[in-house]
Amino acid sequence: MGKDVIVALDFANADQVFGFLDKFTGRKPFVKIGMELFYAEGPAIVREIKRRGHKIFLDLKLHDIPNTVKKAMSVLSNLDVDITNLHAAGTVRMMEAAIEGLTRPDGTRPLLIAVTQLTSTDQEAMENDLLIKEPIDQVVMHYAANAKKAGLDGVVCSPLEAGKVHATCGADFLTITPGVRFADGDIGDQKRVMTPAAAKEIGSDYIVVGRPITAAVDPVAAYERCVADFCD
Ligand code: C5P
Repeated sequence: MGKDVIVALDFANADQVFGFLDKFTGRKPFVKIGMELFYAEGPAIVREIKRRGHKIFLDLKLHDIPNTVKKAMSVLSNLDVDITNLHAAGTVRMMEAAIEGLTRPDGTRPLLIAVTQLTSTDQEAMENDLLIKEPIDQVVMHYAANAKKAGLDGVVCSPLEAGKVHATCGADFLTITPGVRFADGDIGDQKRVMTPAAAKEIGSDYIVVGRPITAAVDPVAAYERCVADFCD
C-alpha cells in the first residue's frame, strides 16, 4: 500500500457516519474506525463501510494476555479490515501472538501497527505512574523496535517522530501519523502538529486526519486538499 490519507471517523453513531460518507461520491477515503463508533455500532458498521468500498483502519488498540489477543485478532481478521493495531506495551510475546491470530489460513492478514506511548502520556506520567525512568523518545523507539522484532508492520507516531522511526526500524516500517493540520487551520487540542505537505516531506506513510476534514464546511474539498498535499 502506498501513501494515503486516512480520515478518522470520530462520530458517535452510524447515522452521522453515513451522513458524512455519502458526501464522497468520487474517491472513497481510507477511514479509521475507533472505539467509540465500534462499541456503539459493533462489527456491522465495519462490514457496511467495507461494502461501500472504503479501506478501513480498525483502531481498537488491543492489550491483554497473548492468548486473548490472539483470539480477538482472529475475529478481527474475519472482518477483512486493512489495518488494525495494539499496544506495544503488551510485550513482544503478545505482539507475536497477535500476528498469529490475525493471519488467515491462506497466509494473508491485515497490516498490524503498534501504538508506542500514547501522546497523552508525558515524561512525568511515565515516570510517576508507570515507573519508566528512561527518556520518552527512547521508550518510543524501543517499543517501535520491539514491534518490528515481533513482525509488525509499523507504528502510530507523531509526524515529528516518523523520520527517526524509519532511521531506527527501516524505511519499509510504516509510520501512521495523526496530529495533522492545514497551515491556515485550527489546531484544536493537538499540541504538536504538522501540515500534510510537511508530513509527506518527513516520510510519514499514512496521515490520520479527523477534524480538519470532518468539521470542514466542505469535507470533500478538505479531503481532496489533503490528498493533493500528501499523496500527489
Ligand atoms: O481530529 P484530529 O485530526 O485531531 O483526529 C486525530 C485522530 O487521531 C483521532 O481519532 C485521535 O484519536 C487519533 N490519535 C491522535 N493522537 C494519537 C493517537 C491517535 O490524535 N497519538
